[in-house]
Amino acid sequence: MSRVVSGIRPTGKLHLGNYFGAVKSFLKMQEEDDCFFFIADIHSLTTHPTPEDLHSNVQQVLAEHLAMGVDPQKCALFVQSDVPAISELYTYMNMNAYMGELQRSASFKEKIRTQPNNVNAGLLTYPVLMAVDILAHHADFVPVGKDQQQHLEMTRQFGNRFNNLYSNDYFKEPQAYSSTGNLVKVPGLTGQGKMSKSSGDADTIVFDEEDKVIQKKVMRAKTDTGPTKPNQDKSEEVKNLFDLMALVSDQSTINHFDELYSKAEIRYGDFKKQLAEDVIAFVSPIREKINHFKNDKKALSDAAQIGAEKANASANKTLEEVREIIGFRKFY
Ligand code: TYM
Repeated sequence: MSRVVSGIRPTGKLHLGNYFGAVKSFLKMQEEDDCFFFIADIHSLTTHPTPEDLHSNVQQVLAEHLAMGVDPQKCALFVQSDVPAISELYTYMNMNAYMGELQRSASFKEKIRTQPNNVNAGLLTYPVLMAVDILAHHADFVPVGKDQQQHLEMTRQFGNRFNNLYSNDYFKEPQAYSSTGNLVKVPGLTGQGKMSKSSGDADTIVFDEEDKVIQKKVMRAKTDTGPTKPNQDKSEEVKNLFDLMALVSDQSTINHFDELYSKAEIRYGDFKKQLAEDVIAFVSPIREKINHFKNDKKALSDAAQIGAEKANASANKTLEEVREIIGFRKFY
């Protein structure tokens, strides 16, 4: 049985990117493996949420995991800040992470560009905390979207560096994983890159959103002026919408619109109408369940509690072993 670890930041409602990049793999892996899935609330502090927002975001994302089918009986589903060993391990691992490599990380560079007024130290050492999340449970696999690939490389580097420093092979090398084979990048609706919480509301389709809103967003998604001759290459925007359709529609629908595109007969209005319908059919049953779980305080607290127990047991064991390896010995 493999060890599996993954986390999602509670910075808003979950979107299709989170589902197809991560949660879909969680659902498969919890059936077969020893899984630790968590709400990365400490990571979310880099954006300075108010105490009320922090709590309601964690509650939202926890309810969303349950609604999507993550089962607290089959995996450890927990809140990162419920596991204090993570913060202590983070302190130790920070000593072996170098400024240069942290500054070169793509996510840090992006934050410097997008939020120049809040380039805090937590952003710089974000990959160290993420590495600790993973190494604390000795993960073999980490189900994530393509955007997290570099963080996984850094995790391996930090683990190996610790091993070299203390001449052992304590940490193993975790691999990024997707149940679909290749790591997934779900595109946004505005034609620029991946679907992302930080790129704005019009770009993302979240699960906890009214049908009408989803319909509007999809109908407004960027396209182009349309193919003028058969077998024309698709523009980035149109390719993105086809990629989304590949996730939520059935094969005959995808083939139908692909064929229309190839013949240069596609009408984007019809195409988007169908895409919106299929997105809504996919999202709305989950939305119903989110509403149910958000109000089921007992289900939320039971899940978080048994998750915390499992995660603490695992992380505390690692912490104790790491302290021993580092050379912290008690005098009393
Ligand atoms: P976060 O919260 O940005 O995203 C959570 C998960 O969703 C995936 N994802 C996507 N996948 C495909 N296409 C997209 N458009 C898309 N948008 C998001 C992400 O790849 C991720 O798997 N640093 C992490 C959270 C984290 C973590 C960890 C993950 C903290 N510790 C340990 C794994 C292991 C993050 O910010 O993900």
